[in-house]
Amino acid sequence: MEVSLNQLTKRYGSKTALDQVTLKWEEGVQGLLGPNGAGKTTLMRLLATLLTPSAGSAEIGGVPLTEKGRIREMIGYLPQDFSFYPGMTVGEAMDYLALLSGVKGKAERKRRIDTLLEEVNLAAHRRTKVRALSGGMKRRLGIAQAMIHEPRLLIVDEPTAGLDPEERIRFRQLLARFAEGRVVLLSTHVVEDVESSCRQVTVLQNGRMPFTGEIPELAEQARGRVWLAEMDKGEWARANSRYPIVSAVATVSAMKVRLLADERPFSDAEPAEPTMEDGYLCLVGKGGSGR
Ligand SMILES: Nc1ncnc2c1ncn2[C@@H]1O[C@H](COP(=O)(O)OP(=O)(O)OP(=O)(O)O)[C@@H](O)[C@H]1O
Ligand SMILES: [Mg+2]
Repeated sequence: MEVSLNQLTKRYGSKTALDQVTLKWEEGVQGLLGPNGAGKTTLMRLLATLLTPSAGSAEIGGVPLTEKGRIREMIGYLPQDFSFYPGMTVGEAMDYLALLSGVKGKAERKRRIDTLLEEVNLAAHRRTKVRALSGGMKRRLGIAQAMIHEPRLLIVDEPTAGLDPEERIRFRQLLARFAEGRVVLLSTHVVEDVESSCRQVTVLQNGRMPFTGEIPELAEQARGRVWLAEMDKGEWARANSRYPIVSAVATVSAMKVRLLADERPFSDAEPAEPTMEDGYLCLVGKGGSGR
């Protein structure tokens, strides 16, 4: 199973939301990382055949996007802003969505729904009305819904937003299990979500793709540009306006700062080993050299 994009482009009027993106994704959880407005949702909606490309093409398991009917059978999609049937119970909503997804036979639907509700930890809420679920529970129901027809490509748009830390971990594990033999495309702007669960990461920025590759390679983008320095409040104010700051921790007497700079920014700054977050910020961060 492979997903390949070839010069995939989407324009909304004069705005180019996705600009000639070419890449290949293989089996496993694939991270799609980018700031607000980068084009993540646009790319996902193109793959879900909810939008038509302005130029370029894509194939999912060898099937071109233009064959909408076949593509729709192969994909599951959890939209960023999804809504459910609030008046139904969890069990009824799942059964209805399974029917819509073409899962035939009552017994088969029941078997899949039982397994999935168990997996997403909602089995005890089968008779709860959807409107009475918490935000995190609704997300979990959303993911169960997107998996019901066992799609070969599962597209989940910022699924971890609004989940508590325990649920986030559980959720990542669920995606990792599901990704065996399939592609799971996960968008987020939380670097940690990608770091802990993805095989490969693709960065989008302003519709372009400055990076696609394995996580250690993303960290390498920042090699030689990450510095640690201790400074007083005055120096800190100057540094903050001149350099992209990765992190800053105040101690009693000074600030401990991790920042990005092409050359040693202060005589007492020490070079640091780059992390994936440093690499990401080098590519998309304010003041990044854009290389
Ligand atoms: N229907 C539309 N009409 C016009 N412009 C749009 C439309 N949808 C998205 N855009 C623009 O396209 C760009 C990419 O939007 P998109 O929603 O794909 O970004 P995103 O990476 O998903 O952002 P976020 O992290 O905020 O969800 C943005 O500049 C957005 O304003
Ligand atoms: Mg989005």
